[in-house]
Amino acid sequence: MYRDKTCGELRISDAGQKVTLAGWVQKTRKMGGMTFVDIRDRYGITQAVFNNEIDRDLTDKANTLGREYVVRISGTVAERSSKNPNIPTGDIEVIADSLEVLNTSEIPPFTIEDNTDGGDDLRMKFRYLDLRRPCVRKNLELRHKMAFEIRRYLDSEGFLEIETPILVKSTPEGARDFVVPSRMNPGEFYALPQSPQIFKQLLMVSGYDRYFQIAKCFRDEDLRADRQPEFTQIDCEMSFVEQEDVISTFEGLVKHIFKYVKHIDFTEPFPRITWADAMRLYGSDKPDIRFGMQFVELNDVAKGFGFGVIDDAELAVGILAEGCASWSRKQIDELTEFVKRPQVGAKGLIWVKFEPDGSIKSSVGKFYTPEQLQKWGEKAGAKPGDLLLVMTGDAMKVRKQLCELRLEMGNRLGLRDKNTFAPLWVIDFPLFEWDDETQRFYAMHHPFTSPNPDDIPLLDTDPGKVRATAYDIVVNGTELGGGSIRIHNSELQDKMFKLLGFTPERAHEQFGFLMNAFKYGAPPHGGLALGFDRFVSILAGLDTIRDVIAFPKNNSGRDTMNESPSPIAQEQLDELYLDLRPHSIKDV
Ligand code: AMO
Repeated sequence: MYRDKTCGELRISDAGQKVTLAGWVQKTRKMGGMTFVDIRDRYGITQAVFNNEIDRDLTDKANTLGREYVVRISGTVAERSSKNPNIPTGDIEVIADSLEVLNTSEIPPFTIEDNTDGGDDLRMKFRYLDLRRPCVRKNLELRHKMAFEIRRYLDSEGFLEIETPILVKSTPEGARDFVVPSRMNPGEFYALPQSPQIFKQLLMVSGYDRYFQIAKCFRDEDLRADRQPEFTQIDCEMSFVEQEDVISTFEGLVKHIFKYVKHIDFTEPFPRITWADAMRLYGSDKPDIRFGMQFVELNDVAKGFGFGVIDDAELAVGILAEGCASWSRKQIDELTEFVKRPQVGAKGLIWVKFEPDGSIKSSVGKFYTPEQLQKWGEKAGAKPGDLLLVMTGDAMKVRKQLCELRLEMGNRLGLRDKNTFAPLWVIDFPLFEWDDETQRFYAMHHPFTSPNPDDIPLLDTDPGKVRATAYDIVVNGTELGGGSIRIHNSELQDKMFKLLGFTPERAHEQFGFLMNAFKYGAPPHGGLALGFDRFVSILAGLDTIRDVIAFPKNNSGRDTMNESPSPIAQEQLDELYLDLRPHSIKDV
């Protein structure tokens, strides 16, 4: 046995015990004839002491230790004279009587501690060292605990964990595929799964009525803080269910995780909002409801007074910032600059201050009388001291812009506390999204999503109005997961493909095996997938999912540690019958 205790477990009650520890040297300090060595492992840090007066050679050896050397130290646990209340082992130290250097280390490129001096890029390049830092380790521990609790809950609900292939035929989740050439089938390619969607539906046909998988998914799309090219889903599917069954099962899962991992008990059902209301009240299909500030539409009180910016716009819509009438010119100018940033893209911002003395000040005071502006205030429920911020434009566009402003106001007012969790379901998504550029409908979720049975007649008359039996779960403004009840009737599926512009041949080529399977008794089924990385990062209170992935990619999809992607040897290309076009070769 290399060690009999870890560096995180010794307490005052262990005083007098002989112990052996192994770990990395965090730091050494020489004080007079004593040398103090902090040893770190996965569990914590323990101080070891070497004393010149007891063993000079041993203390000399301790003085040669460098940062991150791997050592084994034996000694006796003793109460410390100067205790360190900041660490759990801070009451004790180990009076060393032996020291073995198991390995030396080069000086690490950054300090291995929570408050490191290493920047993002450097830490990613040396991710194996970054992972030694306690704050990173904590995230992976949380991830493990969550995966464990997910399995415990789903197992108790009768779900079977079944793996599905990684080398697949393209799956229809809407992003680009990563592809893998097949040596044995020259000129042919596998795709990496964007999700196990088709396989889990096939498993339903096979009778495995409750499936789940903590599944790796791959999508070649633009990366953001909550998107990685390879990520993990908690993927689930159920047979003989309706939307309500899926929602209640997975609301149960989310509550279980909050309860057993975060010790937060959600006793009430999660709120639900329709997609249409979410867009109308928050300008987003993933509203952050940790705070109110719902949108107030002002067309009926603001139009028709000769002010072109409002009269010519499809929609004038505002948010009320309570108690913010005292905001300075500078603060409001900053907000105007914020909405004008290209990421938001608005032309400007209208403000109305309802002063505590009952007077009204506004950037549009020249165009509206105080009585007219008072009407705006009444509509928004303004009280003296409140500030109304208004934007105008095309309805959908201005709602998205105001959504950005609302979130910014939430940040500035400290209303988006990372320790507050506000989950909700968004339901009744539209089945289709119209794309102006290609002049066709796209499936908002995926082509297997069932229309709301009440809206089926609209498929022939007004497809844009058809609601899907699709639902998302949202926490704190992040889409945590989404799913739907699937179509299990081939006639309806054919109609969907037709509306989505698939010829029967193309539909057959892409999804023929699923369509064939559906001929052999497909049960009614539905499911959902939660983004596991997102779930962990929300619980950890982090802004990016990178921090909860052991070996993530950067925003250009690169792993700077192993320098992938990278060119491959000509022989490998030859084996795969691949020729590269010159412009695709780096530096050409
Ligand atoms: P969807 O595409 O909505 O649904 O994905 C489900 C959840 O996966 C997470 N997610 C991601 N996380 C990190 N990086 C990414 N690039 C990324 N893309 C998606 C999100 C998202 O809510 N097959 C369907 C589910 C179903 O219908 O059952 C699907 O994949 O949290």
